[in-house]
Amino acid sequence: MATVGEPSASFSDEASAVADEAFISVRSVWKVFGKDPEKVLSPEYAGKDKAFFQSEFNNVIGLHDVSFDVQRGDTFVIMGLSGSGKSTMVRCLLRLIEPTAGEIKIDGEDITKMSEKALLEFRRTRVAMVFQHYGLMPHRCVLDNACWGLEVQGVKQDERYARTREVLSLVGLAGWEDAYPRQLSGGMQQRVGLARALAMDTDILLMDEPFSGLDPLIRRQMQDELLRLQSELQKTIVFITHDLNEALKLGDRIAIMHDGQVAQIGSPEDIVLRPEDEYVGEFTQDVRLETVLTASRVMVPPRATVRGDQGPQAVLDAIGSNARRAAWVVDAHGGYIGMLSGDNAERAVQAGVSRLDQDGEYVVREYAAVPLTANFDELIPLAMSRNFPIPVVDADNILIGEVRRRALAEALAETSAAEADYEANAAENASLAAEA
Ligand SMILES: Nc1ncnc2c1ncn2[C@@H]1O[C@H](COP(=O)(O)OP(=O)(O)OP(=O)(O)O)[C@@H](O)[C@H]1O
Ligand SMILES: [Mg+2]
Repeated sequence: MATVGEPSASFSDEASAVADEAFISVRSVWKVFGKDPEKVLSPEYAGKDKAFFQSEFNNVIGLHDVSFDVQRGDTFVIMGLSGSGKSTMVRCLLRLIEPTAGEIKIDGEDITKMSEKALLEFRRTRVAMVFQHYGLMPHRCVLDNACWGLEVQGVKQDERYARTREVLSLVGLAGWEDAYPRQLSGGMQQRVGLARALAMDTDILLMDEPFSGLDPLIRRQMQDELLRLQSELQKTIVFITHDLNEALKLGDRIAIMHDGQVAQIGSPEDIVLRPEDEYVGEFTQDVRLETVLTASRVMVPPRATVRGDQGPQAVLDAIGSNARRAAWVVDAHGGYIGMLSGDNAERAVQAGVSRLDQDGEYVVREYAAVPLTANFDELIPLAMSRNFPIPVVDADNILIGEVRRRALAEALAETSAAEADYEANAAENASLAAEA
């Protein structure tokens, strides 16, 4: 871990080279609470930890040399236990809390150097926030609550209502426009909070433990909802949670925070399979691989694809009359329609089928495709129950790959081996430490 006064390990030349491209770039940010915060940064105290400054000067280190990048359209999760600095970090992004040192750039703009006026404008127009406590106004109905951000932006009432109604239906609250917060469950109130943020139509969403107050079942529904919305909207999201499973489910990349420092940044797979230190390793030791590995990791390009306006002969040309092989039928845009096996293609030719998209007998439309995010827990039972690979589609139902049973088995074997390696290393380190 980085020590006071030294640049952090993640702040390498390589990291600064890509900093220009990252949508949100955070570099060596410190937040020290208490009097004379700058003294913490003085070389004199290099290497001192949080406890030292607390006992010696009554300063609390909220953020300790934090650096990370968020790419446009990604969901970046900041995960850590209570007090690890998550909220401080997300507040510093917009200078709701003033960082003590460091640089924060969003879409090329240096937040730390912005005038007060520019900053207010930036917060009002570029960023929407969702918090754990939904912050709904009790005397306002759902529609007026969800409109609130637009009202602050000065959008006229007609337009405000029109846009907000759309977003309310997007989050499953159509028909509830006139209800009051007290008439809603916690999950529904959080949907209103989400709608309020989405209605503002900003490209950045900051979410500080938005689902923490919800029952597990509702929480899972909200996570699924967010994944669905995000696949449509592709916002840049900074999402805070202290729940590892939530982080793994939602994050394209995850930063694990510990005592105000970043312990590790990586993909869900990196975090689980390649923990960089003991702290992260302990955190993730109980995570099941099957929940982390997804279709996107093991799929290959679709082997045989035919267009729906073609006939079954096209399938025979591609794979022959083979009961063990199948082709995917797609529309003119590549949208997935269904599966046609080689032997069924032969029958369809004999039956005189001319267009596969008009055939209701041989093309199996119930042979459902899975999204890129489908995890192994979903894929394995599917693979066991099917004779052909599993087609994979993107958010627009475009066929982009297939998952073969063997690839699932290999990925599990490979990652279990990586885990075993890690455990062996950890055991070796522990025994070395014990000897020393
Ligand atoms: N205004 C403040 N004055 C002094 N210390 C503060 C202040 N705000 C936060 N801290 C301290 O900074 C550290 C990080 O707090 P922060 O609220 O960012 O943690 P968190 O990770 O969001 O925790 P939680 O999961 O409980 O929300 C803690 O040690 C906290 O006590
Ligand atoms: Mg917090």
